[in-house]
Amino acid sequence: MKIVRTNIFILATLFALLPFGITDSDESKTERTVTKSSTEQKLSTNICTKCICDIENSLIDCSSKLTDWFTEEEWKSLQNEKIVFESIKMEHNNLTTVPVLPTYGVKNLYLGNNQIASITLGAFQNLTELTRLDLSKNQLTSKALLPDVFKGPYSQHDFEPLKNLKSLNLGYNLIHSLNDDLFEHIPNLEELSLCSNTFKVIDRLTETALAGLSALKVLDMSFMELEILPDTIFHGPRDLETLILTGNLFKELPKALSYSKNLKRLVLDDNPIGNLEGQNVFPAMTSLKYLRMTYMLDIYKIGPGAFSELQNLTELILSDNKMLTEVDIHALSKNITGGAFLDYPPLDKLYLNNCNLTTLPQEFIIRWDKLSVLDLRFNPWACITSNEYMIKYLIPRVNSTTPLLASNVKCAYPEELSGVEVLKVASGDYSLAQSSSLVWIGIIVAVLLAIPLTLAGIAFYKRGYCRFGKKNEVANRTLYSRTSFNEEFHI
Ligand SMILES: *[C@@H]1O[C@H](CO)[C@@H](O)[C@H](O)[C@H]1NC(C)=O
Ligand SMILES: *[C@@H]1O[C@H](CO)[C@@H](O)[C@H](O)[C@H]1NC(C)=O
Ligand SMILES: *[C@@H]1O[C@H](CO)[C@@H](O)[C@H](O)[C@H]1NC(C)=O
Ligand SMILES: *[C@@H]1O[C@H](CO)[C@@H](O)[C@H](O)[C@H]1NC(C)=O
Ligand SMILES: *[C@@H]1O[C@H](CO)[C@@H](O)[C@H](O)[C@H]1NC(C)=O
Ligand SMILES: *[C@@H]1O[C@H](CO)[C@@H](O)[C@H](O)[C@H]1NC(C)=O
Repeated sequence: MKIVRTNIFILATLFALLPFGITDSDESKTERTVTKSSTEQKLSTNICTKCICDIENSLIDCSSKLTDWFTEEEWKSLQNEKIVFESIKMEHNNLTTVPVLPTYGVKNLYLGNNQIASITLGAFQNLTELTRLDLSKNQLTSKALLPDVFKGPYSQHDFEPLKNLKSLNLGYNLIHSLNDDLFEHIPNLEELSLCSNTFKVIDRLTETALAGLSALKVLDMSFMELEILPDTIFHGPRDLETLILTGNLFKELPKALSYSKNLKRLVLDDNPIGNLEGQNVFPAMTSLKYLRMTYMLDIYKIGPGAFSELQNLTELILSDNKMLTEVDIHALSKNITGGAFLDYPPLDKLYLNNCNLTTLPQEFIIRWDKLSVLDLRFNPWACITSNEYMIKYLIPRVNSTTPLLASNVKCAYPEELSGVEVLKVASGDYSLAQSSSLVWIGIIVAVLLAIPLTLAGIAFYKRGYCRFGKKNEVANRTLYSRTSFNEEFHI
């Protein structure tokens, strides 16, 4: 289960980090290269016989095809071609080191899934167009990652930065700390993944390294076994927009979040946070639009004010929190004016599916009508009058806008309604006329029965059996109303 989930997160991360739309080579691509073979023959480089040269996508795919790097001659032949391939994939090749690469206009270099344990200083200095570098799933250690690894081209007196490098993936390596100057040659980095490296703590050196990344927009720090973050870690990268903290060991919300003023998207999935209440509520993060906290195996309560300070929140995803039983009526609202009205975030999508919720009060959100997605499926809902708003208004509304999300919203209580679709309970109320006619039939039957019973009662009373007669009547009535109730809801 955990592995599957991890893969989903990785996939999601990969998609987030792949704006150029490059996917693994599949059959259609192979086919395309076959049909392109006439064009390929015009390419004199023999690299295209070893690897797949996909001219349309400007990609050379050498994944699982090499035992070593290109030779000098092969690079030369590539440099002499009229076209420049913007993307080169060299994944799954058992490469152990990265040499100084020759001048080439490659923009996206994929070196993931090798055995790379060392990188020559200045390895990328001649790749001045390099924008995206994927070094994930290798054997890189903190020692191997020296600042000069990312040294740029030498001009006159000094090394220039690798100014085009925007995206760096260091995920799934053996790193536990970053050199404090690691990013000195790549100051324009916008996306960084440190995912699945066992840091355990963000030490001062790592914090200093990150503080230098003033252009950073996306930071993936998932599965790093972190329990806490330094309070000031986001003081440097102040334009950070997306932060992924999935699969760490946070028991409370990191205080550091209050420094990430420009954060738009936050993912806190799979952390052992037990509740959001008291001091442990979200600080003012006025730019935050997207918050995801799913697979939180310990969370049972979301208290008052938990999300009140997230004034711009539009998407809240709290799915698959199996213990989540209590969501406070004031979790989202905020008393700003001190008057009669409360303020609410402008929610557009709310996911509460696969939790342990029984009721959803009307006051939880004010503008239910503004929600385009409301997912309440797979919860043990209580089909009782105090939950009337959800049953009679929300679920029929969900049915009319997103019918898929209206099925599998089922009652768990009371027992006689257990397993019944809430939508069916709601539609039962359309047929009020039917149920009132049943009541009338009931009354008529009761009256008809009452005449002989009364006569008999008088007879019994006279004989001193009054109590018995009364009890029997009550039992009859209970039985009657029970059947009519069941009939109404089991159609
Ligand atoms: C890499 O090494 C593994 C095991 O040593 C081997 O099975 C695999 O074929 C190698 N890959 C390549 C591209 O040579
Ligand atoms: C990289 O470029 C420098 C000049 O900028 C050159 O001296 C060096 O030989 C090049 N390295 C390779 C491996 O081509
Ligand atoms: C809230 O969202 C709106 C619309 O997306 C945006 O114009 C506004 O600047 C945001 N507020 C803050 C504090 O970021
Ligand atoms: C779900 O909530 C009920 C009370 O409504 C509680 O008895 C039960 O233990 C909860 N289940 C989990 C998995 O927390
Ligand atoms: C907001 O707070 C004020 C004063 O604390 C209180 O009088 C008012 O009733 C509150 N409004 C709501 C809607 O709770
Ligand atoms: C749910 O919506 C469908 C149309 O999408 C409608 O036919 C059906 O009657 C609705 N069910 C109820 C119970 O309102």
